[in-house]
Amino acid sequence: MVSKALLRLVSAVNRRRMKLLLGIALLAYVASVWGNFVNMRSIQENGELKIESKIEEMVEPLREKIRDLEKSFTQKYPPVKFLSEKDRKRILITGGAGFVGSHLTDKLMMDGHEVTVVDNFFTGRKRNVEHWIGHENFELINHDVVEPLYIEVDQIYHLASPASPPNYMYNPIKTLKTNTIGTLNMLGVEVRVARIFNTFGPRMHMNDGRVVSNFILQALQGEPLTVYGSGSQTRAFQYVSDLVNGLVALMNSNVSSPVNLGNPEEHTILEFAQLIKNLVGSGSEIQFLSEAQDDPQKRKPDIKKAKLMLGWEPVVPLEEGLNKAIHYFRKELEYQANNQYIPKPKPARIKKGRTRHS
Ligand SMILES: NC(=O)c1ccc[n+]([C@@H]2O[C@H](COP(=O)([O-])OP(=O)(O)OC[C@H]3O[C@@H](n4cnc5c(N)ncnc54)[C@H](O)[C@@H]3O)[C@@H](O)[C@H]2O)c1
Repeated sequence: MVSKALLRLVSAVNRRRMKLLLGIALLAYVASVWGNFVNMRSIQENGELKIESKIEEMVEPLREKIRDLEKSFTQKYPPVKFLSEKDRKRILITGGAGFVGSHLTDKLMMDGHEVTVVDNFFTGRKRNVEHWIGHENFELINHDVVEPLYIEVDQIYHLASPASPPNYMYNPIKTLKTNTIGTLNMLGVEVRVARIFNTFGPRMHMNDGRVVSNFILQALQGEPLTVYGSGSQTRAFQYVSDLVNGLVALMNSNVSSPVNLGNPEEHTILEFAQLIKNLVGSGSEIQFLSEAQDDPQKRKPDIKKAKLMLGWEPVVPLEEGLNKAIHYFRKELEYQANNQYIPKPKPARIKKGRTRHS
């Protein structure tokens, strides 16, 4: 009996101990789980912090780029003179997104005039005038000059027409219409007629097909500079800013008969090839090919009239102009290499036969 009672007492004590032990074990378990949880959270938080700082590290340069882009988007136009209402003219430039037209746009805008560019972007491109888009004095209209256009202006520079042989031969009928109907559509004001001679400079077409752009591209790409015949035939090229100054001088003169605008400084094709090769610093060879048919032996504008009546003559030295054109073409080739979009004139349908140096 005593032993049974003792046993019950012991087992009662044990049960209590067991409960106590179980309770302690449970507490220990909860404590350890909690500890682990806290530990894991701190590891997790630590990890999260590390990831966050890694992301921050990667995002910061992107943020910087966005800030730079935003800065460049806050339009900074080239400086523009202030002209009083009386002196400020409303000027329309047809073909103003082309090579010559875009440089003329720059000059007239910087002189403080209001410029409207009309272009169908056949060979021109928005990129040539994009630095003016949004300016209060500037307007760009996508329009074909073969169709009438009704706007009120003080002066019209009518330059809309494909200029280089592959471009004007692409659709000869359209070229004729542009030069006839298009010109008639622009008449109605006093007329000045400029006879423009070979011009070069930045924004000229990569596939212009004329000797300066051909040689620059060949030299930059390490290809042979191709000279047709002996290379003794001469050519004369004016830098685009000289032409633009001549056009403005003619427009504001009272000369209504045609005036030659060109650079009379003659050079042989071979001289051009050697000079361009040297300025580019190219290892290209000069390759002589058989003479092109009907290739003129001499090209030199007579600018006596422009000198006398406009007080105009070209002032940009050949090397200076060539260096600017080379810089432009080099950049264009870089853009192409980086696979950036560069609009080009539409592919030309050229007649069979060799290209001439014009
Ligand atoms: N660049 C030269 O060496 C040179 C030499 C002699 C004459 N010109 C004359 O100067 C003018 C400009 O020549 P450029 O070298 O700037 O050529 P360009 O091809 O760069 O410019 C001509 C512009 O006229 C636009 N255009 C063509 N057809 C049009 C149409 N139907 N409607 C509206 N826009 C049209 C084109 O998109 C382009 O923007 C042309 O009339 C050209 O014949 C140029």
